[in-house]
Amino acid sequence: MVVLGIDIGGSGIKGAPVDPATGMFTAERVRIETPQPADVASVVKTVESVAGAFGPAASVGITFPAVVQHGVTKTAANVDASWVDAPAERLFAEALGRPVTVLNDADAAGVAEMEYGAGKGVGGLVVMVTFGTGIGSALFIDGRLVPNTEFGHLHLHGLHLHGGDAEDYASDRVRESENLGWTEWAERVQTYLRHLHALLWPDLIIVGGGVSKKADRFLHLVDVPTKVVPAALQNNAGIAGAALLAARRAGAA
Ligand code: BGC
Repeated sequence: MVVLGIDIGGSGIKGAPVDPATGMFTAERVRIETPQPADVASVVKTVESVAGAFGPAASVGITFPAVVQHGVTKTAANVDASWVDAPAERLFAEALGRPVTVLNDADAAGVAEMEYGAGKGVGGLVVMVTFGTGIGSALFIDGRLVPNTEFGHLHLHGLHLHGGDAEDYASDRVRESENLGWTEWAERVQTYLRHLHALLWPDLIIVGGGVSKKADRFLHLVDVPTKVVPAALQNNAGIAGAALLAARRAGAA
């Protein structure tokens, strides 16, 4: 069975049909720029165009960079405010005429890493942290997702200058906007991950997000008292994880 995975990000909306048994794309990925402003109606339209590029899929999994509870988007830290309390799952399902599963972007990436990538077969407590425009997180206990952890919004002591939120201090966006060198940024990532470690004591931390493809530039500089590994699937994780959850919900994976 082929399921469509769609990943909604701040700059692009990407989609591909996925074989949930392997996480592999069965056709080349399509990317359309995220409309600006990225209000609900415009994003639903763009998602329709991405889905329209492929043949009919049995069901569709869609990631969104916010808390998603029971198909409703609840927050809008880095997205248009119209998404707060939007019935996203229903709106996408109506637009696409197929069952849709909507979930948080980091949760989707984490699900894919646990199934096909860096967390495969790892029991105990695993946390995936994605560094991008914000910081996303996904928590797993013996492979089972605890959805909607928002560890990117942890407050780190002494960071008032950065607004207090960890993601305003250590995200990849901040590395770029403050022009931080790899060593300087790695120190911030280390401060953040040590804090996270002190609260959760995970067996494994998976570092994801676009910057994880440059893990060789910074990850060796990050010293945390547990195993820290880069994500294996990088940019494809969101699409694959969303498709896998949609397939599981349809009872097909
Ligand atoms: C949002 C999270 C999201 C993360 C990564 C944060 O600002 O609150 O829901 O997972 O950014 O996109």
